[in-house]
Amino acid sequence: MKKVLSGIQPSGRLTLGNYIGAMRNFVELQHQAECFFMVVDLHAITVPQEPAALREQSEAVAALFIAAGIDPAKANVFMQSHVRAHAELGWLLTTLSYMGELERMTQFKDKSAGKDAIGAGLFVYPSLMAADILLYNADLVPVGDDQKQHLELTRDLAGRFNHRFGETFTIPEPYIPKVGARIMSLDDASKKMSKSNPNQGSFIALLDTPDVIRKKISRAVTDSGREVRFDTAEKPEVSNLISIYAQCSGLTVAEVEARYEGQGYGPFKKDLAEQVVGVLEPIQQRYNDIRASGEIGKLLKEGAEKASAVADATLRQVKERMGFLLP
Ligand code: AMP
Ligand code: TRP
Repeated sequence: MKKVLSGIQPSGRLTLGNYIGAMRNFVELQHQAECFFMVVDLHAITVPQEPAALREQSEAVAALFIAAGIDPAKANVFMQSHVRAHAELGWLLTTLSYMGELERMTQFKDKSAGKDAIGAGLFVYPSLMAADILLYNADLVPVGDDQKQHLELTRDLAGRFNHRFGETFTIPEPYIPKVGARIMSLDDASKKMSKSNPNQGSFIALLDTPDVIRKKISRAVTDSGREVRFDTAEKPEVSNLISIYAQCSGLTVAEVEARYEGQGYGPFKKDLAEQVVGVLEPIQQRYNDIRASGEIGKLLKEGAEKASAVADATLRQVKERMGFLLP
């Protein structure tokens, strides 16, 4: 059986981009593979976090995993910090990572741009991400397009380790959706939709109320034309909205275009809002039920126990191959 692993940071509220680019695929893959899905809290602290907010968001992301349809009986859902092997293998892989390759990571360049105090954790972030993946010998890693480069580095590190210390790690493949791997901002189609954007109108949060969703979509930037046509060069904003429509409705891009031929943006945006609400409302209801049930702590504890068993075995093998004396 194939193994799948992915993670989402508990830094801010999750967006429709996270759902379409990543989480939806988690739900689909749980039926075909042995899955590990985690809330990557150790990654979240590579930029400053308020303790109370980190605690709240960590629980919220775990609850959203379940609300989105991940079944904890099928997939392991856990907090990264509950499985100690992540931090430990992260360190071991940091020693195998080159400064030059870490400096080339676009996420590091983006997040450190213009700052004069840059945490070292932000720099070695990709080595920790490699540890996350390699501890479970994951074959597939469902992520959005922006994580492709980190996956490449993970593959390089796995190969480097195998070459130096003997065949140990599976070389993972990214699993990136064909449509929706990069949902763009509603106010600027040159930037990806991101929960860290200070403009609330630029993203749809998974927990936005239906009215807020309708308002955000009605205000989404479009060009001055009226043709609902997918053309990322000429009509990037409308193309982004068509992608979202296609992902939420299950229609193809061509079917969406055909449905709104000659109708202009008004009816298209109105229906798009209802499509998004139709996807998010049931998730929100399940989310509220799960938070109210108080069950998250127990689920995460069970998930971490199962994940630790796998991760600890890999870590032991890695340490033995690297020449550590084992206790
Ligand atoms: P993050 O929020 O950075 O932890 O991202 C979690 C997952 O969501 C990763 O697999 C990202 O690639 C994916 N993701 C984040 N933003 C977007 C977006 N705007 N479009 C598609 N996927 C995204
Ligand atoms: N770096 C990923 C992001 O920002 C989150 C992440 C951490 C991750 N560890 C992972 C994704 C392991 C996939 C697999 O989205």
